[in-house]
Amino acid sequence: MIDFQSLYEALKSSSLKPWLKTLPRHIEQRVNVNVNGNFKNWLETLEQLPEIETRHYNLNHKEITIGDITDCSNIQQAQLKSGLQQLHPWRKGPYSLFDIHIDSEWRSDLKWNRLAPHITPLVGRQVLDVGCGNGYHCWRMAGADAQLVIGTDPSLLFLAQFHALKRYAPQVPVHLVPFKMEDLPDATAQFDSVFSMGVLYHRRSPIDHLLELRQALRPGGELILETLVVPSSYANLLVPRDRYAKMRNVWFIPDTQQLETWLQRCHFENIRVIDVSPTTIEEQRTTSWMQFESLPDFLATNNIQTTIEGYPAPLRAIVIANRNGLRKSC
Ligand SMILES: C[S@@+](CC[C@H](N)C(=O)[O-])C[C@H]1O[C@@H](n2cnc3c(N)ncnc32)[C@H](O)[C@@H]1O
Repeated sequence: MIDFQSLYEALKSSSLKPWLKTLPRHIEQRVNVNVNGNFKNWLETLEQLPEIETRHYNLNHKEITIGDITDCSNIQQAQLKSGLQQLHPWRKGPYSLFDIHIDSEWRSDLKWNRLAPHITPLVGRQVLDVGCGNGYHCWRMAGADAQLVIGTDPSLLFLAQFHALKRYAPQVPVHLVPFKMEDLPDATAQFDSVFSMGVLYHRRSPIDHLLELRQALRPGGELILETLVVPSSYANLLVPRDRYAKMRNVWFIPDTQQLETWLQRCHFENIRVIDVSPTTIEEQRTTSWMQFESLPDFLATNNIQTTIEGYPAPLRAIVIANRNGLRKSC
């Protein structure tokens, strides 16, 4: 059983206190009722992780580092490693847990490095990370001294991976809620910074997603949006006929100008594209902690400039914008 008590305590003393009226019941239904299949196995894995007291952690390192070998015995480390391996595949990271190095599919630190110099410092801010995966960037946000970080992601595997770490750093003000953003309680104007990274192209209605993000921000609050884009020389919008880079659930890939127009239409202001970078096989690849296919398998065999379907290879933009403080709706 996953314990959400520290989330509820954090909500109690924040402006998100009204969430407590419905959230505990919804979480209970999601994670504690009809537990079966893989999720049951992951919960058993979490329960069998060894008790270890953490003396050191570092959330500002490329590997989120919690504990080291001086905190535990070799036997405990081996037990922990075996448990973490049962939570395969580790898509986001890297992490170092008591000197076990989780080399995830994605080097998520590289995305963080691209955005970190451009965002408003997170010190003391209430932050929402939509589609947070297993929470890698949430830990980095806590490392940047955010007051409270709420990540939201519907994947129960990512929830289990997050709690495998969180149990060894319970005091860090970072929490994962196992829902799609659309299924969160009303978050109108509650967050100082909202991140949406790698989510927009998965949404069938990207404008609705931008409006949801805007609504979660307080007036003047900052959106950090990261998504796939196409080069303007290719098109101003790609709607893949079927799969894109073998993914079934990719709907809209705009160019950066189209993306800026969408944000303007949703009454964001101060819109700036701070980075456009191709995804490299250094950033996304198969590892011993994620043994399935990865980027090299999604690209054309003889031309890494195109996906296996013949579309432009993954190119990702980071855009920062502010919620317009004057208008109330779109
Ligand atoms: C490509 S991953 C990005 C993870 C992380 N944000 C990053 O940038 O590395 C997209 C994540 O969004 C989640 N997701 C998809 N639709 C979502 C929605 N409607 N609300 C919240 N999360 C969603 C998926 O479960 C997945 O973990």
